[in-house]
Amino acid sequence: MAVIDKLQISQFRNIENQYIEPSSGVNLIIGSNAQGKTNLLESIYYLGHNRSYKTKKLRDVIGHKHRSIKLSAQVDGKKIKLEKFPNKTTISVDNKKIINTSSLSILMPIQVITPDKGFIVNGTPKNKRSYLDWGLFHVKPELLTVFKSYDKAIKNINALLYNKKTDGIDGWFQELSKSAKIINQNRYEYIDELRKNTSSYKEICPTKIIEETDFRLHNGWPKEVDWEDESSSYNYLNRNINNFIKTKFLNCGPHKASIKFVMNGKDECYLSRGQQKKQSIIFWLKQVDVLIHNGVRPIILIDDISSELDAEKTSALVSHLEGLKVQSFITDIGHNTRYTNETNNITFVLENGTINKH
Ligand SMILES: Nc1ncnc2c1ncn2[C@@H]1O[C@H](COP(=O)(O)OP(=O)(O)OP(=O)(O)O)[C@@H](O)[C@H]1O
Ligand SMILES: [Mg+2]
Repeated sequence: MAVIDKLQISQFRNIENQYIEPSSGVNLIIGSNAQGKTNLLESIYYLGHNRSYKTKKLRDVIGHKHRSIKLSAQVDGKKIKLEKFPNKTTISVDNKKIINTSSLSILMPIQVITPDKGFIVNGTPKNKRSYLDWGLFHVKPELLTVFKSYDKAIKNINALLYNKKTDGIDGWFQELSKSAKIINQNRYEYIDELRKNTSSYKEICPTKIIEETDFRLHNGWPKEVDWEDESSSYNYLNRNINNFIKTKFLNCGPHKASIKFVMNGKDECYLSRGQQKKQSIIFWLKQVDVLIHNGVRPIILIDDISSELDAEKTSALVSHLEGLKVQSFITDIGHNTRYTNETNNITFVLENGTINKH
């Protein structure tokens, strides 16, 4: 179970130096525009990933008067610290330096629901893969080595194709085919687990949308490739090597996979924004359920909830999260969110970068 017991945010955007002890349940963060609500969520995400979901530039998140960001938290009794200067990053867990960001992600499995990241439904294939592989990674962290081998093979293949060289490419094709099969197998299994999940979200989403929503993996290979057969993808790669030289990179395989959403047989691109939003929320909730089922309790960050759901559905989502006993941080401009169980919830007010309990 991942729970942030203590959180210190320093020099992060407009948050100068703030310490909070969040609830292990729902934390509601309220405040008017531009006070730092999103910044608080972003800082939690940053600590768990050593990067932002909003920007690639460190300069953007360092407080204007400062030279570094300093974030620390106690998560499940472990002390996690991150200090980041433009040319130096120090991350430690219980005062031991770590260099591998993936171990941070395992300690802090963070699911973020924010308009900044975009909805999964009708999103880019890249965004879809990032949601999918986030869940898969937390269910099966051991797959990280397979993903790394795949990435290494892709990088080497693309470098050779770019330079119109084929010497040594065969070995990388073999490596890629081997890793691709494992990645696809696990992605299919994970998507199946999500689809089979029968939890009810009818309080949060209209039953019709839930019943009519479906999604499938597009594995990234063309139809003629049998993904379950390593030699099928390997032979395909060899047969089409001249085409890949022309395009200068490998345009098929699991790195081009996507998820296709449909509602009542209709393709995701024809759905209204509201339908896309609701379908995306169902997908997120299913992921949280599957993770919990696999023994992982993610920390949920939801930004600007009232722009995503009306007051009634927001309260339903809050009760749902309470029932799952996961820790969540939910920002809202007003104070419309009603709780079903006030005892374990905390409301924080953000004003000009300062965080106080309500
Ligand atoms: N690097 C930075 N240093 C200092 N302040 C920053 C930095 N980056 C952003 N800000 C400030 O942070 C504030 C925005 O904070 P944030 O996006 O968290 O607001 P918010 O409370 O989520 O508002 P809204 O309700 O409009 O979403 C702005 O005033 C902005 O100028
Ligand atoms: Mg905001």
